[in-house]
Amino acid sequence: MNSFFPKHFVAWLGPIFAAYVAGAIVAGIIVVSGAVNLAASIPHPEGWANLLHYSFERSVATHAGELTKPDDFDADWRVAQGAAHYGHVCITCHGAPQTGQNVVALQMRPQPQYLPAVVKQFSDNELAWIVLHGVKYTGMPSWSDASRADEAWSMAAFLRKLPELDYEGFRKLAYGNDGKLIDAKLPAEYAGFQPSPTETATPDAETHDTSEPATGFSDFAMNNNILSMCGRCHGADGVGRGIGAFPNLSIQDREYLRRTLKAFAAGERHSGFMRPIAAQLTDEQIMAVSAYYAMQEKKQSPGADKLDPQMIAAGREIAENGIPDRKVTACLSCHEQTKFTSRLFPHLDGQYAIYIENQLKLFQHGERGYAGDYDPMDRLAHQLTPDEMKAVAAYFNAEQPAVLDNTPADGGPNASADAPGTGEPPASASPAATNTGATAN
Ligand code: HEC
Ligand code: HEC
Ligand code: HEC
Repeated sequence: MNSFFPKHFVAWLGPIFAAYVAGAIVAGIIVVSGAVNLAASIPHPEGWANLLHYSFERSVATHAGELTKPDDFDADWRVAQGAAHYGHVCITCHGAPQTGQNVVALQMRPQPQYLPAVVKQFSDNELAWIVLHGVKYTGMPSWSDASRADEAWSMAAFLRKLPELDYEGFRKLAYGNDGKLIDAKLPAEYAGFQPSPTETATPDAETHDTSEPATGFSDFAMNNNILSMCGRCHGADGVGRGIGAFPNLSIQDREYLRRTLKAFAAGERHSGFMRPIAAQLTDEQIMAVSAYYAMQEKKQSPGADKLDPQMIAAGREIAENGIPDRKVTACLSCHEQTKFTSRLFPHLDGQYAIYIENQLKLFQHGERGYAGDYDPMDRLAHQLTPDEMKAVAAYFNAEQPAVLDNTPADGGPNASADAPGTGEPPASASPAATNTGATAN
């Protein structure tokens, strides 16, 4: 025996290296010969499938602690956001309560699980981690905007509720409008137009994956049935679903909506909920849907009556006068609603407090992105404490939206899409802009 196995470590190196090279050659021959049958039509052998899945579970368990669970994890608005996205995207692969799975998705290897039956085994953190990061070597995609972990948490909040839902309950939660189809029409001047992919008619091989419009998980854009999609979340009237899960669009100006949709599609404003939807639209469709929501009756978002009057008063102080000690500019110096500034500065009067507060947190962490080149909000939000954010959000929710003349200054559907606004602040806002610059530290 002694003579066969070398005594010293160094003497082992030769045989180990030889075995390694031989192994690599055999593996190479197997790969090049094509002997391994990778057909998805043949299911994984059971032992192999179990091993793959076990390694996935171990990986998730090890990394899930990297995410921090938000305090309001169970909030209704989170569950509604998650449900709406599930009903648009995840349902295609994972099925929904009391319905079978998509027959095409079931031909994937590994097969996507029927989630209502399996999510219980995962902790909240694990669910959020899977949604945010996806699963390599399977078809499970990662979140389409990596910076929005908060959105992955909303998905996890919904997945927690999924096993309890029946078909009716799921439909109401996912599609709003009491589970019924939204029947709304685009403005008359856009009604007859045929959407055509104008901007990048023939995407080249290098960029085809990011060019607009992109194809999506459902064909609402190809059918020009846009409002049936937007209405699920934002309502046909644009007010959202009443609980702050979806921002009130009725209060906004056409040009802000248009620029925002373009920015979502390009990933310049971040959201894994909105990006897949906006990326499906042509420029003409974006013009049409922006015009539609801008001409809806401007309504205050519900919920203001439940807000603390003292908080509203504290918020008013910040909105009107800013916080001079910390060089926080009065919000109204930019957001005050005149026809001119409304093109750049979103209206806040009558917006949901939850949405405003969430946007301020995103700005603070540099995760929100912008609809133009002008980006004063990150620095500003950095100066606000969590209580101040809550207060100022409550104040704006309690205000009545201003009714402005929304007549497009640049004509109807045929006007040049990029005519109005350059992304630069209007001259009248520059003092405020300079002040905000000074608060950067
Ligand atoms: C293109 C198809 C596809 C889409 C779309 C998709 N998934 Fe998956 N998902 C998969 C596949 C395939 C797996 C299987 C992974 C495995 O077996 O290891 C998976 C696994 C999962 C798991 C782990 C399940 C388990 O028991 O191991 C969760 C949770 C999950 N997906 C959630 C979602 C959510 C939420 C969405 C929507 C945001 C979504 N998925 C969208 C294909 C998809
Ligand atoms: C699955 C639900 C869902 C659908 C469908 C949906 N949205 Fe949204 N939308 C959201 C969410 C959630 C947000 C908030 C994103 C964030 O947190 O930044 C949002 C934000 C927006 C904003 C930004 C509002 C603001 O004040 O800045 C606009 C504009 C918008 N959506 C337009 C649309 C249009 C137009 C459609 C249809 C083509 C649509 N959305 C479809 C969920 C949805
Ligand atoms: C110097 C000008 C300026 C000041 C001052 C200012 N904002 Fe803004 N704010 C902006 C601009 C520009 C945007 C639009 C970002 C974009 O391009 O999407 C914005 C966006 C927002 C949004 C997102 C709205 C939406 O619909 O998504 C919120 C919320 C907001 N501001 C709150 C505030 C609050 C609260 C204050 C006061 C503490 C404030 N802002 C002060 C310029 C300003």
